[in-house]
Amino acid sequence: MTAATVEVHLAPGELHAALVEDARRGLLAPAGHKQLPPVWFYDDHGSALFDAITALPEYYPTRAERALLLAHAGDVAAQAKASTVVELGAGTCDKSRILLDALRGAGCAERFVPVDVSEATLRQAADDLCEAYPGLAVHAVVGDFHRHLDRLPSGDRTMVAFLGGTIGNLRPDERGRFLFDLACRLRAGDSLLLGTDLVKDPGRLVAAYDDAAGVTAEFNRNVLRVLNRELGARFDPEAFAHVARWDDERSWIEMRLRALGTQRCEVAALGAEVVFEDGEELLTEISAKFTRDQVERELWDAGFAVDAMWDQPGGDFLLTLASPSC
Ligand code: SAH
Ligand code: AVI
Repeated sequence: MTAATVEVHLAPGELHAALVEDARRGLLAPAGHKQLPPVWFYDDHGSALFDAITALPEYYPTRAERALLLAHAGDVAAQAKASTVVELGAGTCDKSRILLDALRGAGCAERFVPVDVSEATLRQAADDLCEAYPGLAVHAVVGDFHRHLDRLPSGDRTMVAFLGGTIGNLRPDERGRFLFDLACRLRAGDSLLLGTDLVKDPGRLVAAYDDAAGVTAEFNRNVLRVLNRELGARFDPEAFAHVARWDDERSWIEMRLRALGTQRCEVAALGAEVVFEDGEELLTEISAKFTRDQVERELWDAGFAVDAMWDQPGGDFLLTLASPSC
């Protein structure tokens, strides 16, 4: 078995500095404006919790996307004919296998490049893939898809997969910039396979982010454990309630942590005390939900033309294959 190669673009010091910066901006903000980017959920424990979320009865996106991939990976392979597959935010690379099976079956996919911030999860996934796909070159990249797109390998016919609906965790301005940067990097013959969650009944949406077993609540609170460990903070995760709310106007789910009573906490790495008034909330994630038209429009505005779209009759989730339009 050939071993995976792993390229690390996030040295521990750099990761720490980025967290300090996000915490300074996000936690010292006045009441009503406190927020953190969702990337900080994903230490080893957070990645394991996300994996558990994907199996929850309420969390439909992973199952819906998997079913779409099983039904249409052959079409994706036939159109993309990719020799390199780059997957952004690849996590455990579970669904990547469906794509790799179809592409390898069509004589394509010589190289797979999973990209993720979660190093241990990525290393394990890369090793597992090497074992499962003899002859496939697996080149894992530990990096941030906002900052390291320019460091990704390119080659003939690259397909970038961005699955799971993770694009919905970017704010609209970030999303536009990210897609534009990606379109600029791709060349004729390259493609983007994008998974987006679709707008649906708010009851189902809220349940998907506030499951009965409390796994999503633990995932949400995990960001406080990351702050405690990495920044020498002493937040009591149990002193914050998990909140999942549908914002109809912005068409996104918000996950928040609401302080149960006033919380005062010294954060050593900030050299400052962070104060939450009773009931004050920290915004930890948005998860935007889309329509087909919106996906097509946003892709076009960023420099992509849609080649194909696949969804289910019920319309839970959408897979879009697109190419750079210029
Ligand atoms: N694509 C997988 C995993 C989705 S979970 C699926 O569909 O199931 C989101 C993944 O993105 C996590 O593995 C997390 O570590 C990674 N991630 C989040 N923000 C990131 C960033 N800024 N750069 C790189 N990876 C990121
Ligand atoms: C990774 N991302 C697409 C997930 C989502 O559904 O927005 C993260 C998540 N947050 C809570 N549950 C799952």
